Amino acid sequence: MLSVNNLSAGYGRKSVLTGIDIPGMQAGTMTAFLGQNGAGKSTLLRSLAGLHKAGGTLSLDGTDLTHQSPSARARSITYMPQSLPQRVALTVLEATIGALRASSRDPDAVKRSLAVLERLGISNLAMSQLDSLSGGQRQLASLAQALVRKPKVLLLDEPTSALDVAHQIRVMRTIREITQEQGIIAIAVLHDLALAARWCDRLVLLSKGRVLTDGEPADALTAAALLEAYGVTGRIERCSRGHIQVLIDEVA
Ligand SMILES: Nc1ncnc2c1ncn2[C@@H]1O[C@H](COP(=O)(O)OP(=O)(O)OP(=O)(O)O)[C@@H](O)[C@H]1O
Ligand SMILES: [Mg+2]
Repeated sequence: MLSVNNLSAGYGRKSVLTGIDIPGMQAGTMTAFLGQNGAGKSTLLRSLAGLHKAGGTLSLDGTDLTHQSPSARARSITYMPQSLPQRVALTVLEATIGALRASSRDPDAVKRSLAVLERLGISNLAMSQLDSLSGGQRQLASLAQALVRKPKVLLLDEPTSALDVAHQIRVMRTIREITQEQGIIAIAVLHDLALAARWCDRLVLLSKGRVLTDGEPADALTAAALLEAYGVTGRIERCSRGHIQVLIDEVA
């Protein structure tokens, strides 16, 4: 279980997040962090990864991680940033194996890496150079590097932002399956509210540096919350298959 308690963060004298409490994120579940551009989602994720200085406490399974260095945290927390590294002279498979070897001495590294590429539907890219990939393909390759490590906590900053509709679903389903199978605590920053509502167990909506709503998708996403967090008027409805749909009518 991962708990964030009274987290605050900013840049210089500028405060971005204050009094952030996100208790009890459970193993085997996926939580989405939502909120408008500049709401502080990436700052929060980097703070959890130990890459940005923050106040408050972070505990994982009863252990206080607050004063652990980023490298110590990296043993249990894997973080995929919003902007991906450029100019990496490796193939997709080499990068995936490298990510795995950085955290374990698994003798089956090649097999395990190929299996992750297969699950993400990018086996055909195994021998491609990272530099030669499209934006979406590079995002999938980065996701493979994160998933192959089997972390306790998986932090993904906008993992589907460059993906087509089919890959968005494939990626969300794969993350959810792997999260459940391996008992991972997954957190993804997302802008697509319907995607978040369909695939995540819990949504945390950030607004004005605070947690505005936190709960199951139907509880966290309300018309009032959309208006407050994004400044839009909209409706939450269910489609014929029961999936939550977010219909935005206007910018208020
Ligand atoms: N390196 C930085 N130095 C100064 N201010 C920063 C820095 N990075 C982010 N900020 C500011 O902190 C606030 C939150 O930024 P953050 O990147 O966390 O937002 P976000 O919710 O991830 O937005 P987006 O949806 O656009 O990715 C913004 O006002 C931004 O301008
Ligand atoms: Mg961001």
